[in-house]
Amino acid sequence: MRKIESGRDCRKIIKEAADLIRSGELVAFPTETVYGLGADANNPAAARKIYAAKGRPSDNPLIVHIADIADFAHVASKIPKEAEMLAKAFWPGPLTMILEKGDKVPDQTTGGLGTVAVRMPDHPAALAFIRECGCPVAAPSANASGRPSPTLAVHVKEDLDGRIPFILDGGEVGIGIESTILDLTEDVPVILRPGFITKEMIERVIGQVRTDPGMNADDPAARPKAPGMKYRHYAPKADLTVVRGNREAVVEKINQLTREMQAKGKFAGVIGTDETAGEYCGDLVLSIGSREDEDTIARRLYRILREFDEAGADVIYSESFQTPRMGQAIMNRLLKAAGYRTIAV
Ligand code: TXA
Ligand code: MG
Repeated sequence: MRKIESGRDCRKIIKEAADLIRSGELVAFPTETVYGLGADANNPAAARKIYAAKGRPSDNPLIVHIADIADFAHVASKIPKEAEMLAKAFWPGPLTMILEKGDKVPDQTTGGLGTVAVRMPDHPAALAFIRECGCPVAAPSANASGRPSPTLAVHVKEDLDGRIPFILDGGEVGIGIESTILDLTEDVPVILRPGFITKEMIERVIGQVRTDPGMNADDPAARPKAPGMKYRHYAPKADLTVVRGNREAVVEKINQLTREMQAKGKFAGVIGTDETAGEYCGDLVLSIGSREDEDTIARRLYRILREFDEAGADVIYSESFQTPRMGQAIMNRLLKAAGYRTIAV
């Protein structure tokens, strides 16, 4: 694990990491959303190594990261004008676009699909690293398959130590949940995964878009279009339940459930907020931040889930966070982590 700060040393470390990518190896690197596990996107054997290191099903395609808008043309075969407009508006940034795949991108990178997911991350070290690699970099989130995405380099180490040769440590990420995925291969573009870039922000640039009905469903028949969205994801080891309702009722219900679990000798964790954390009787109560501060809630979500694992929690109860901008993305991840176990009070 190598820390990257500014200056010459940083350039040397990035070069070392890029050399590994060029020789077909894997490197974990920071982005503005979560840490990614990178490989040369044009090298099928390197892409295969990603699946092996993560324990990821091979039908789950990877996102290809580029460092310049001009590189779009190297990975996608057709670039509609909407894609150009969105790239101009949001890149570098947390928007992934699905387009028809270019010839150079092998099936191993796209899970056999004829389409490719592309994004340009908004992180100076990520951009410097990709440029130094001299190739597009395929990268899923750098967690073991099924675990919460890494928001710190140490999370990558926890999951992948001994399986990958290099982790670029850029400190804590800024956003904390993965990019918004927009499929531009349909007549009306479709959001396959919600993120920091919202439907409204996209519609302001290209007009009407849809949301994939399978995105938030627990029903396997609803089949989400992003293959990765069908797996139980983002899961902590403990059983997580989300309790919805008004503030007082939620606190009362969580305390009642906590006492029941404690009576059975279970270790019960609670995810509260700065405003409510003092009111809970859990064995470990963690505040995710102020209810008014959704940026902090998003950034801390995965980290908090890992903290409960480390503490050995058997069960976790969480408030729900219907925040104005990122609420949909936050709840999408939280509900997946909970396997859609919710209680309304
Ligand atoms: O913020 C992010 O997007 C992070 C950072 C590292 O860039 N990456 C990330 O990758 O979240 P991953 O692999 O954890 O999630 C990629 C998602 C999966 O659900 C996958 O199925 C979907 O994107 N995906 C990739 N290519 C696709 C395609 N051609 N069509 C539909 N879905 C695709
Ligand atoms: Mg992931």
